[in-house]
Amino acid sequence: MNIENATPSYFTAHGAAYVGDSLDLLAKLPDNSVNLVMTSPPFALQRQKEYGNLDQHDYIGWFLDFARLVHRKLRDDGSFVIDFGGAYMKGVPVRSLYNFRLLIKLVDELGFFLAEDFYWFNPSKLPSPIEWVNKRKLRAKDSVNTVWWLSKTEWPKADVSKVLAPYSDRMKKLLEDPDKYYTPKMRPSGHDIGSAFAKDNGGSIPSNLLQIPNTESNGQYLAGCKAVGVSGHPARFPAKLPEFFIRMLTDPEDLVVDIFAGSNTTGQVQGYRI
Ligand SMILES: C[S@@+](CC[C@H](N)C(=O)[O-])C[C@H]1O[C@@H](n2cnc3c(N)ncnc32)[C@H](O)[C@@H]1O
Repeated sequence: MNIENATPSYFTAHGAAYVGDSLDLLAKLPDNSVNLVMTSPPFALQRQKEYGNLDQHDYIGWFLDFARLVHRKLRDDGSFVIDFGGAYMKGVPVRSLYNFRLLIKLVDELGFFLAEDFYWFNPSKLPSPIEWVNKRKLRAKDSVNTVWWLSKTEWPKADVSKVLAPYSDRMKKLLEDPDKYYTPKMRPSGHDIGSAFAKDNGGSIPSNLLQIPNTESNGQYLAGCKAVGVSGHPARFPAKLPEFFIRMLTDPEDLVVDIFAGSNTTGQVQGYRI
């Protein structure tokens, strides 16, 4: 879908990228038209990054303006997925609650539903913050982001069978010869482990802990930046993160929007998918 009275900075057969303030751009889209807003806003960090993140105190009000507009633009079965990095309070080894406070406001004040809370574990994350983790050794390294999957109604479009995880080696063996591995019985939890568990569904149901390393160092995007002599975006998310939610929550021709697109990883994923 093209945005009226706005010129895309580039486009493909599958979508368009616009440069501008997403508050203005999003306002131009028709209400109830967007299937998924998948995004990673500038985080409320203490250290100012070059892409303009705000102080934690102003952050919540600033973000809610975008979220109100997202609510209006989403279809009734649409979803809003937001990746928030954690933060520490200024000068002390104590965590900020900004991502949790925001979640509560998004639900209580704006009317979103929390469809599910996800956690993105990046095993390749460097230890930080340096003062508390590396120097004084007071805290463990922070390598999990909260990812809130919000919806406009209680029944967003979703199909977890589109994002099945590969079976473990143990499960593969079990599927080859179920009788050898277990006899149907009731577990202490009350779950009846019967023959249905030995059915090959093409993969296992993923958990809400997404383990995705963020290690791209020689991909197409960075090669392109190098070729034109610009530095790459400092805070990209790995393509597998938006890919998971785009697959689970939309159909190929649906409208997916990233309101803080940065290098447009989300657009790239949606483009390749179609
Ligand atoms: C954490 S980065 C997102 C990076 C992105 N996920 C990627 O993979 O490249 C946040 C981005 O939001 C952009 N941003 C901040 N305020 C914005 C606004 N009002 N409208 C549009 N983009 C904004 C910043 O310039 C930055 O590129």
